[in-house]
Amino acid sequence: MKAPPLILGLESSCDDTAAALLRGREVLASVVMGQNTLHAAFGGVVPEIAARAHAERLDLCVEQALEQSGCALRDVDAIAVTSGPGLIGGVLSGVMLAKGMAAGLGIPMIGVNHLAGHALTPRLTDDLAYPYLMLLVSGGHCQFLIARGPQDFTRLGGTIDDAPGEAFDKTARILGLPQPGGPSVEAEAKSGDEKRFRLPRPLLDRPGCDMSFSGLKTAILRQRDALIADQGGLTRQDRADLCAGFQAAVRDVLKEKTRRAIALYLQETPAQPMLAVAGGVAANQALRAGLEEVCDATGLGFTAPPLALCTDNAAMIAYAGSELFAQGITHGPELSARPRWPLDQTAAPLVGSGKKGAKA
Ligand code: KG4
Ligand code: ZN
Repeated sequence: MKAPPLILGLESSCDDTAAALLRGREVLASVVMGQNTLHAAFGGVVPEIAARAHAERLDLCVEQALEQSGCALRDVDAIAVTSGPGLIGGVLSGVMLAKGMAAGLGIPMIGVNHLAGHALTPRLTDDLAYPYLMLLVSGGHCQFLIARGPQDFTRLGGTIDDAPGEAFDKTARILGLPQPGGPSVEAEAKSGDEKRFRLPRPLLDRPGCDMSFSGLKTAILRQRDALIADQGGLTRQDRADLCAGFQAAVRDVLKEKTRRAIALYLQETPAQPMLAVAGGVAANQALRAGLEEVCDATGLGFTAPPLALCTDNAAMIAYAGSELFAQGITHGPELSARPRWPLDQTAAPLVGSGKKGAKA
């Protein structure tokens, strides 16, 4: 039997520069260079700094990936590159490198949607069968999707403002906890009382699967200021209780919206109904437990890819590229970099989403 093609994946759409080598479902190498230190002083990702760093580091990532995998450049059968959505300078860096390499090596190139990379990861790790339900939940993304094929997604809903990871990060900042906020808020919440503060459950009163998280962090800010006005500062317990209350509110919103997304998904009577969750926030044990509970109650299987493949990486881009390649889809030198590229072209755009850069 012929070996599956060797695919080189490139990712540079936000603040991680990454290259990976993949054969079939085997990740031979996955190199990710983060840029946290470059942007730390600015309180967010600076697009120009990100683009310059990608341009400087992409070839280094490719060299490291080749070295780790033991493959030579001439062994590569095709190059898969993130061609959107994301910060345009970064996406361009990857696309230009891919074009140059594909032309130089005389091999095909495949433009990949970054969000499709995330959404197809459970097929790379768990060989999930289509159609499955996907919850993408990170610092930049939050949406429910039904995945039917590498280019066939239905978006059931998403956040209309902040992504949950962003809300965790802002909550940590408000409470003086270290970044990234997700792990620090989760750690504090363990010793907190989630019922002490009454926090909102945004958009639960409205039908559908859209979500909103920006009001929650404002509610935390108000509670913090009220405590400071009352008692001159926050005790360790106040902080823990606020974190527990915040996390419980996110959990309750995600659980209820997941229940609704599952009801819509089950109308398609999938043979093996599954919910997959991906993105940095999927690391949160309390949120995961909540989602697993909903799956148990509704007869769905639950899976979450390992964290290294949940957060931004190039193995997922190589994998998504391999599915397209298997369908005969490749792109020529006219491939363009797209700042916006919704997975579901028919869904109405979500107002105000994607503060880390236009996402979907
Ligand atoms: O997927 P990711 O690495 O990057 C993108 O946003 O694209 O996700 C990072 C986000 C951050 O906002 C971080 O605070 C959040 O995931 N996060 C968590 C946890 N670990 C990371 N949020 C909640 N609980 C966690 N344990
Ligand atoms: Zn991402």
